[in-house]
Amino acid sequence: MDAFRIQGGNRLSGRIALDGSKNACLPLMAAALLADAPLTLRRIPNLSDISNMLRLLEELGCSSNSKHGTITLSNFDQTRTHARYEIVRTMRASVCVLGPLLARRKHARVAMPGGCAFGARPIDLHLKGLEALGAKIELKGGDIIATADRLKGTTIFLGGAYGSTVLGTANIMSAATLAEGTTTIESAACEPEIVDLAILLNLMGAKITGAGSPRIIVEGVEQLGGADHAIIPDRIVAATYAIAVAITNGDVIFHDFPYDYLLAVIDSLQQVGVNINRIDPEEDPRCCTVQVTSSRRLKPVILTTQPYPGFPTDLQAQMLALLCLAEGNSIVTEKIYPERFMHVAELTRMGANLFRQGPTVVVQGVPHFVGAPVMASDLRASASLVLAGLAAEGETIVQRVYHLDRGYSQMDQTLNALGAKIERFNPDKSLAEEIAAAPSETPEPPVISAFPTEAVKIR
Ligand code: EPU
Repeated sequence: MDAFRIQGGNRLSGRIALDGSKNACLPLMAAALLADAPLTLRRIPNLSDISNMLRLLEELGCSSNSKHGTITLSNFDQTRTHARYEIVRTMRASVCVLGPLLARRKHARVAMPGGCAFGARPIDLHLKGLEALGAKIELKGGDIIATADRLKGTTIFLGGAYGSTVLGTANIMSAATLAEGTTTIESAACEPEIVDLAILLNLMGAKITGAGSPRIIVEGVEQLGGADHAIIPDRIVAATYAIAVAITNGDVIFHDFPYDYLLAVIDSLQQVGVNINRIDPEEDPRCCTVQVTSSRRLKPVILTTQPYPGFPTDLQAQMLALLCLAEGNSIVTEKIYPERFMHVAELTRMGANLFRQGPTVVVQGVPHFVGAPVMASDLRASASLVLAGLAAEGETIVQRVYHLDRGYSQMDQTLNALGAKIERFNPDKSLAEEIAAAPSETPEPPVISAFPTEAVKIR
């Protein structure tokens, strides 16, 4: 398993262009299962989650043709409906094939996704929504089996204890496109990734209004065709790199920056002392050029993660790393995944002063991080450890960076191009080589053989 060796203390500067959003891509790729003609998606990031999704779609009878960040998806076998546990367990977002399979193929068998590093991640709201549309749902051998001749539009309240559900909204909105009659989704997720999915589905012939608001209305149609669509830039990747600039007191120009999708984050960063300025006010604020710089003295903030347009849970770990270096006490509360704090113990190993009480962490700023070996536990927690490593005195080793490869395309190379010093290596291989090269402490015992050497020669 690869690891990063980071030499901290290098200021980031230069230019960076952003890829399409992973979390937008996954449900948009699943929407290909609804289409009766090829679907072309552009600005696809090069990530292991995307390869896993392509593998899953192939198993479901949907082939892909990829070239330079553009993928064309075409169904070749509409009878396949089983998303196996072997694939689903590698990527929880596989659940977004459930709605499209059921709506188009009348049957779906999708392995129930397990929890993840940061706690239980139920899908009860997805199932509630599909049942409301008339599906029969059973659980057999760890698989969800959903069947329906034709789904029927209705009104569905999709809010839960932690607010709206992003992939749940994607699943129900996608399924409702081919339902008979009108579906109203109340308490729908308002994330930009849902708006991007609605834009794509409408290009395919769906009739969706209200995406981006808590009430989405879908008028069912008989059939969906193909489309050609470019994915929105990745707001989480964009803000992660903006925080990397801030934590190294850097100065970087970002191209294709989704400024409009990051207003809560920009507000918090500005309170901390980070400047994020649009270069050209005429550019589309959803995909524009910005300059990120930061003041040497970071100020503390109080923030709470919330569904969009609030501060995203997917940036809590990275922001926490930055706040560790602020002058004073910050308070960070996690309202979406109360257990999403795997990075707290690792940041503490690097000298952070953190006190966690339930879903809240009090951060007492320290002057600097100290490099240390740390363990990545999930995608965003890993990113926060890399950020801390960039600012740390000395060397930081972040183990298990395969988590990062799920959501950041070649993060080491991207940051190195801006002046960071990160080396990717395989610690298992290095350890094996070290052991092989090390002189033996005890002398080799003499070889005692009952046979003359010649007798044991095979050839
Ligand atoms: N929830 C339920 N029941 C459900 C579904 C969700 O109680 O049926 C709860 C969850 O446990 C959580 C909250 O509702 O407390 C929100 O979960 P949501 O369903 O919105 O999460 P998701 O759609 O499974 C997506 C992103 C996550 C991101 C969340 C929240 C993708 C592929 N994943 O997950 O991204 O954290 O929305 O914004 O879009 C990441 O990129 O690192 C990541 C984990």
